This record gives sequence, C-alpha cells and structure tokens, in this order.
Amino acid sequence: MNVLQKNIALGELRAARSMLPEPVGLVPTMGFLHEGHLSLVKRACEQSASVVVSIFVNPTQFAPTDDLDAYPRDLERDVTLLQEAGANLLWLPTPDVMYPPDFQTWVDVEKITQPLEGEKRPGHFRGVTTVVAKLFNAVQPQKAFFGQKDAQQVAVIRQMVRDLNMPVEIVTLPIIRERDGLAMSSRNTYLNPEERRAALVLSKSLAAAESAYESGERDAQIIRKIMEEIINAEPLARLEYVSCANFETLEELEMLDKKALLSMAVYIGKTRLIDNRVLG
Ligand code: PAJ
Repeated sequence: MNVLQKNIALGELRAARSMLPEPVGLVPTMGFLHEGHLSLVKRACEQSASVVVSIFVNPTQFAPTDDLDAYPRDLERDVTLLQEAGANLLWLPTPDVMYPPDFQTWVDVEKITQPLEGEKRPGHFRGVTTVVAKLFNAVQPQKAFFGQKDAQQVAVIRQMVRDLNMPVEIVTLPIIRERDGLAMSSRNTYLNPEERRAALVLSKSLAAAESAYESGERDAQIIRKIMEEIINAEPLARLEYVSCANFETLEELEMLDKKALLSMAVYIGKTRLIDNRVLG
C-alpha cells in the first residue's frame, strides 16, 4: 500500500490517484478501524481495481459539546489493518487542508436530514455531506462504499449524489456485529464492562421488534413501543429516540405496509450508540 502521510498537498494526492488503475473505489472513514470498516475495504477491493481509504476525523460533523478531541485514534494499527485488507492508497487529510481559513462553501441536503440523527445532532449532516463531497472531488472515485450502520447517513449521501449529479456509485454494505449482536463502532471502546453488557439492549430491542413483525404485527406504534420498553428496562440505558420510518423518506410510519427502517439512538452511560434494522 502506498501510504500518503499527513500534510501532503492536494496536488500530490491527485498525482497518486492518477496512477491508480480504474475503477477506483473510495472508503471514507474517521479511523480507529474495526471489522465494520474493513468489510467495506474488502468489498471495495473485490469491486474496484484500486481502493483509496481516507481517515479524517471531520470536525464539522461534531457539535461543540461532542467528543471530537476524545475520538479514539490509532494510526499505526489502522495502517496495518488496511495493508492486510488490500487497500492501495491511504489519504490522511488534515483540518487545514479540508477547511482553510477562508472556507465558506457547504453542501446541505434539506429534507431527509431533518428527522432522527438530524434532529438530535443539528448541523451534523451538513458536516458529513460537505466533507464527503470534498473527498469525492479530491479522489474522484467511480464507487464509494458506506455501511448500513449509519442508515440515515447513507440515505443522505445518496440524495446528495442524485441532486448534484455526482458521477459516483454508492454501495451500501450490511452492519457488522460482535458475536453477541452489538453493532461494531469505534465508540464501543468507551464502554466499561457493565455498560458493554447493557449495550446489548439496542440489538435485542431490534430483534424483538423484528420477531413481532414476523408474527404479523404491522402497527408501527406497537413496534416502537416494543423497542422502547426493552430499552427502558435497562437501568444504564437512556433512550434518545426510537423510530419506525419509511425506508425511503425516513418519515415515521403508522402502518408497516412498505419497506421500513427501525432505528434508535441510546445513551449507555455517557456513550451514545445507534443501531438499526430494515424490515420488509
Ligand atoms: P466512520 O464512523 O469511521 O465510519 C466509516 C464507514 O464505516 C461508514 O460508512 C460507516 O457506516 C461504516 N461502519 C461503521 N461501523 C460499521 C459496522 N459495524 N458495520 C458496517 N459498516 C460500518 O461514518 C463516518 O465515519 C463519517 O461520517 C464519514 C462518512 C467518514 C464522513 O466523515
């Protein structure tokens, strides 16, 4: 793997990119990689001639009160994992390359960013779409790979790509979980052993909702209630939202008569976790 270290100019990235066999696949990340990220890199290697991975802890998608400085980092380990997974180029842009002092242009997807994560994290998706648009412009991949773990994020990015005619195919890949069902996340490292056990309420509540659906339940309010009750029964968990929404528009459903996205955000102690499952 050609490891491009920090502080390279955009021109150097472009030069390195232009040497890569096409099609080029891009996997944008914030680092501290786990099997979820690596599943994207591995699929990208299968579906593209070259794979570029970016690691950038994007300040504009964090709120001032968020854990930006505390966000876990381990570049040496990430490099080894990417080498093993077969990535061809690692780009590590710095905040001053991505956001120079006179930066003033933002990408804002208006509607699908409003509910769920968008409602609880104002400005978050504006940061995500802006940085992803910049990564697409810099790397010019033919394909880009995202995880279903961040279901609304990938829906927002698909909307941006359609609306702005970006010549990139978005590939979405399934959520990778620990053996006991917890969705893998860089933030799981914040959990102490007791919280780690309590964090299973997310996947358990989704499983309970799905089994109710499979037994014929179609009332979205009842499905939301099933998830809420399981989460509220865990003393270490604090529910932020549960949702049973139209998979396309992310608007809350009354009846589960079309493809639906069950999703939630739950604080386990101080750590905010999200999880989701698609029904229908
Ligand atoms: P990050 O949280 O590092 O995630 C990078 C990619 O890995 C995202 O597409 C995310 O959905 C995927 N991912 C994370 N956990 C996963 C899991 N358990 N299974 C499958 N895929 C998983 O998401 C971001 O970074 C940022 O918002 C970014 C898109 C890089 C923009 O800054």
